Amino acid sequence: MNVYMAKNLTFKVNNKIILDNLNFEIEKGKSYALIGCNGSGKTTLMKILAGVELNFEGELYFFGRRLDKSTFGKLFEEGFYKKVGYMFQDTDLQLFNLNVFDEIAFGPRQYIADEKEIEKRVLEVSKLFGLENLLQNDILTLSGGEKKKVALASILVNNPDVLILDEPTNDLDPKSIRFIAKVLGELKNTGKTIIISTHRFDVLLLLADFTIVISSDHRILRIGKTDEILKERELLVEANVIDEEFEIFRKYL
Ligand SMILES: Nc1ncnc2c1ncn2[C@@H]1O[C@H](COP(=O)(O)OP(=O)(O)OP(=O)(O)O)[C@@H](O)[C@H]1O
Ligand SMILES: [Mg+2]
Repeated sequence: MNVYMAKNLTFKVNNKIILDNLNFEIEKGKSYALIGCNGSGKTTLMKILAGVELNFEGELYFFGRRLDKSTFGKLFEEGFYKKVGYMFQDTDLQLFNLNVFDEIAFGPRQYIADEKEIEKRVLEVSKLFGLENLLQNDILTLSGGEKKKVALASILVNNPDVLILDEPTNDLDPKSIRFIAKVLGELKNTGKTIIISTHRFDVLLLLADFTIVISSDHRILRIGKTDEILKERELLVEANVIDEEFEIFRKYL
């Protein structure tokens, strides 16, 4: 069964179309990237998939179950937020605890009573991300890349089946990008489904089996294998993701 299926999914704000009649399926255990120019609708679509934005039209199914305003309460009660880990594009909007430990422990504290078990989980995931020496630090004092790693750690600590990560490699140094790609690749091999958005073609190639190209007028232009999509120069120009002179810069990416 597919993780998501969308039929004629449309999102409007004050009658302005922000997502225009999207149809797609997200298969279990596969990784997908959303690409499209600034303002094309990637973040909005991810919010909808994450259950954060429910004011959409059309049909959306999560593991075959209808996801909409009327059903979401029930899905939520059944642990939707434990199954789906969502990382905001703007990390500052996501992190709200005082220190790193509490931030990563927030999720597990909702469903684990034993503080020792929580501590064990937090330490495990912190070590993976090299955050163990920052656990008592104030969130506000972290660097951009450290915040990104804390945000990812606070999601992965819940071991969700589906990861929705909005521009997960922003602010990360090149070595950390490869590290995150490795972690996500390993997660995919354990059957997790991953949906990211990115503006970076190297990240696309590292992370996404499939790429969904969104046009500047908010439609899906193409869904295909990432390596094939990246060869389609005209498609990427049409999507306003690159311009005609892109080759000049390609070697710097
Ligand atoms: N609640 C809202 N009210 C008004 N406009 C909105 C709202 N939500 C989204 N938009 C608009 O919808 C469009 C799509 O926004 P979205 O954040 O989804 O784009 P994006 O593809 O993620 O862009 P970026 O690459 O810059 O992150 C933008 O023009 C944005 O201003
Ligand atoms: Mg965005």
